[in-house]
Amino acid sequence: MPANNLTPVHFFSHGSTMMLGEESTSADYWKKCGDEALAHGIKGVVMMGAHWDADADRVEVAMNPTPNKSPVAYVHPSKYVDYVLQPDLATGERCIQLLRAAGFAAEGNTTFDWIHDTYLVLIRMFPGGCPPTTLISMNARFDPHYHVKIGAALRQLRAEGYLLIGSGGAVHNLYRNVYWPMVRHADNFAQPTPPEPASLDFRQAVEDVFRNNSGPELRRAVTRLMKHPQYREAQGTDDHFMAIMFVAGAAGDEEDRGDFGRLEAETWELTNMCNSQFTIGVWPDQRGQTAAVESAA
Ligand SMILES: [Fe+2]
Repeated sequence: MPANNLTPVHFFSHGSTMMLGEESTSADYWKKCGDEALAHGIKGVVMMGAHWDADADRVEVAMNPTPNKSPVAYVHPSKYVDYVLQPDLATGERCIQLLRAAGFAAEGNTTFDWIHDTYLVLIRMFPGGCPPTTLISMNARFDPHYHVKIGAALRQLRAEGYLLIGSGGAVHNLYRNVYWPMVRHADNFAQPTPPEPASLDFRQAVEDVFRNNSGPELRRAVTRLMKHPQYREAQGTDDHFMAIMFVAGAAGDEEDRGDFGRLEAETWELTNMCNSQFTIGVWPDQRGQTAAVESAA
């Protein structure tokens, strides 16, 4: 295992809006990760979601000091309306500078309102209050290598106590979801039939990539997933697969070699949407424990 002082990196599949209001093992894991982050005194969260992209060759950083929350369906307003967001403008400015130094056309966005891809996860991770958080946009061309490079440019923040999170989806094709149990019965977890083969197969491919690759190989493997024969069936659009690139960039350096991804929770929704939750790396004070567990296994 690498002997470094870096924070772990999470790839979370946020799923449907109902993941905010309903109980699930994924939500339990998000809470566990939030508790651990607070126990380790993180300086803040740096997050790329799946619902915000910048045009041309640009990447944006959320710099709105008082963002609103876009409303969500199938969730009682009491679950999110009063939750106070805490944009971290100082770290946002720092991210802009780091991205520019890496060659990106990075700009602050002072009017962006936050969307459920990010605040859904923050509420479940940190129900007692939002830590200082910086949101990084995607780029609308959805070039996987571009998004890996964003993660690589911000990776050094892990050494300073920031928690880097990508919020997207392992299998996320809205055109293949089965909605009637949610619409008729408010049941997002119903599985009236098994998932279709493409959903099952691609979900396995994503797990295989995380489990069996680390360091630069992880970066190559996640970008290669976009050439998987069932990629387009599993991802109807590219937006929910960019955060996985960001995560691989942030946790796929030579120094990360040996830190393999772990599938820590998984929740199927709407028959064909697979919300897999992965973590790469461990907290510095847990490295010895992890090595001991692995050698005993
Ligand atoms: Fe989403």
